[in-house]
Amino acid sequence: MEKVKIKNYPMVNPTPIVLAGADVNGKPNYATVGAFGVVCQGPIFYISLKDTHFTTIGVKENGYFSVNIPSVDMIQKTDYCGLVSGKTTDKSHLFSSFYDEIGKAPMISECPMNFLCKVIQTVPISGFEVFFGEIVSTFARENCLTDGVPDPLKINPTLGMGLSYYSLGPSVGAVFNEGVKLIKSNNG
Ligand SMILES: Cc1cc2nc3c(=O)[nH]c(=O)nc-3n(C[C@H](O)[C@H](O)[C@H](O)COP(=O)(O)O)c2cc1C
Repeated sequence: MEKVKIKNYPMVNPTPIVLAGADVNGKPNYATVGAFGVVCQGPIFYISLKDTHFTTIGVKENGYFSVNIPSVDMIQKTDYCGLVSGKTTDKSHLFSSFYDEIGKAPMISECPMNFLCKVIQTVPISGFEVFFGEIVSTFARENCLTDGVPDPLKINPTLGMGLSYYSLGPSVGAVFNEGVKLIKSNNG
């Protein structure tokens, strides 16, 4: 198959788009984040935030951040949080915020899933702070669960790739299952 080499930039990878939350000056603030993910088998997420963002101040101050998964019907507010900074515009009333008993970072009621993360390591890189956070609380909207487990199609997360947002398509296979067929055919 013909391959062409293209520009090295990170916007070509598909990624879930999340809203990172932190209290800044005692008020909730949320920033849209594409640089988010899982780092190991333990309950640890990373988010990478520009060191000049308003949200970054709050994460550093409190040692906690929230990760909120917006569904696609929240696209306008999700994009808005990535266009406007809390430095100049109060975003605290954009969503209804809630806290768990730890109370260290605000979470968004309207999002089907929320994670509260305690910062366990911070790595500065090229003008960004990469915060590694241990998940200390997880919340899911009841109607987004199937048999008690988060259901991707009910959550309906927003995905980003390039300069567009996408929604999740149907499942194309089961994890640790599809490859078993190949193992069996190699052995047989
Ligand atoms: C789709 C999308 C993804 C973004 N991803 C990131 C990211 O991963 N890291 C980051 O620092 N900023 C990212 N931004 C930019 C911030 O969300 C934006 O600068 C925001 O206004 C910062 O808000 P704050 O200053 O209130 O924290 C993204 C924006 C959009 C629209």
